[in-house]
This record gives sequence, structure tokens and C-alpha cells, in this order.
Amino acid sequence: MKSLGVLLLSLLLPASAHAAEDGALAFTPCRACHSLDPAERNLPGPNLSGLIGRAVGSDAGFDYSPVLRKARDEGLRWDAKRLESFLADPAAMFPGLWMSMRGIENAAERQALVKFLADPASR
Ligand code: HEC
Repeated sequence: MKSLGVLLLSLLLPASAHAAEDGALAFTPCRACHSLDPAERNLPGPNLSGLIGRAVGSDAGFDYSPVLRKARDEGLRWDAKRLESFLADPAAMFPGLWMSMRGIENAAERQALVKFLADPASR
């Protein structure tokens, strides 16, 4: 059992340690639903190109939930700080959110992801 535990650790640790530094890697699971290419549509989630600085719920081609439409109408914008706390616990920030994703517990991974979303071309 002990050696199995060590084997599992060695399989799991490098991947998560890597995602903590690499925002592009941290974004991998998001790609199932989101694109950063403004031309790429028809995914289950809104397009995230130019996210930092833009209004919450502002992909014109996406039909948002009431909670995100309300946030948009209130004039909320995505900045790095708001995005990082959103990623820590999305449904806590916007109860009733139509995005079934658990929060990212690792702060370094959240920060790497925020950096990547602010400037995907830097990677
Ligand atoms: C299973 C699909 C799915 C996955 C995986 C997913 N999302 Fe989402 N995301 C959505 C949907 C759907 C919405 C719109 C939610 C709503 O209208 O309430 C959304 C909304 C968002 C928004 C708000 C966008 C805006 O225009 O204001 C951000 C930011 C976001 N997601 C980031 C992420 C990140 C980063 C990841 C990966 C860590 C991720 N999402 C993973 C489906 C997903």
C-alpha cells in the first residue's frame, strides 16, 4: 500500500504543481466551455476574450443567467481582483450561476490563471 501511495503522489503532484505556475495549463479544463478566440462561438459558456476590464455578462452572443444579467445591469466589471475571488468560489459570488465548476483552492493557480486570462498571448 505504501508504494502505491508514493506512486499516486508522484503521478498527481507534478501536474498540480505545474498548474500553479502555468495559467495556460490551469485554463485547460475551462476550454471545454470557453474560448479566448473572439471568433470561436457555439461553446456552452460565454467567450472570454478581453475579459479583464470588460463588463460582467457582456458577451453579446451569450444568453446569461439572471444573476449575471443583474450584475451587468449594475455595472460590474471584471478586474483581476474580482476574477480571482470568482475563481475561488464562483457560486458564492453569484448565487444561481449557470456554471457548474467548483472553485480553485490553490491561490497560486488562481493567480496564474488570472494573469493568463489578462494576456493569453504572453504564453
Ligand atoms: C461546464 C462548462 C464550464 C466550465 C468547465 C467552465 N465554465 Fe465558466 N461559465 C460557464 C457558463 C455556462 C457561464 C455563464 C454562467 C451564467 O450565465 O450564469 C460561465 C461564465 C464564466 C465567466 C463570466 C463571463 C462573463 O462574460 O462575465 C467567467 C469569468 C468564467 N466562466 C470563467 C471560467 C474559468 C476560468 C473556467 C475554468 C477554470 C471556467 N469558467 C469553466 C460554463 C463553464
